Amino acid sequence: MEKKNIILVGFMATGKTTIGKLLAKQTGMRFVDMDAIIEEREGRTINDIFATDGEPHFRKLEGALAKELAQTSGLIISTGGGIVLNPDNIAALDTTGLVACLMGKPEEIIRRVASCTARPLLAGNKEKQVRALFEQRRPLYESIPFQVMTDGLKPTEIAEKILQEFQS
Ligand code: S3P
Repeated sequence: MEKKNIILVGFMATGKTTIGKLLAKQTGMRFVDMDAIIEEREGRTINDIFATDGEPHFRKLEGALAKELAQTSGLIISTGGGIVLNPDNIAALDTTGLVACLMGKPEEIIRRVASCTARPLLAGNKEKQVRALFEQRRPLYESIPFQVMTDGLKPTEIAEKILQEFQS
């Protein structure tokens, strides 16, 4: 089947947005960020959605958007880190292109999220939360066939690996 979209999956702060924008620049494909679309449509931040309506409501919005984006083509799609929690999301997005899972060490993720306040699941002790969530979700990320280990790589090198796979 022709690969129509590139879908970037991975834990929070693994570089999905940075790599997605770079890939968009390199390919001329349009970049979309699922969290940004949800925030724009809802007219409120992810933090507000979690605080007011709870995580299950956010997951419903995320799932509906995954199905919608599975009908598109020519996009670089950056997903939220929890997209893997519902296998239907990955199954839908997988029909539409190449799903690439960005992986990195929790230590690097902890360093990157240190001063971030926009991620409701990391409220409180960030290090503890990252380690716990990462371990819980590890099998879900690892079940994605195309894995990209990002540790020690420059964004251009990561993008290159993804493009090679996309074009192969
Ligand atoms: C989440 C990751 C966030 C965002 C929401 C939930 C998660 O996206 O969707 O805060 O469950 O891992 P990023 O991966 O872009 O931080």
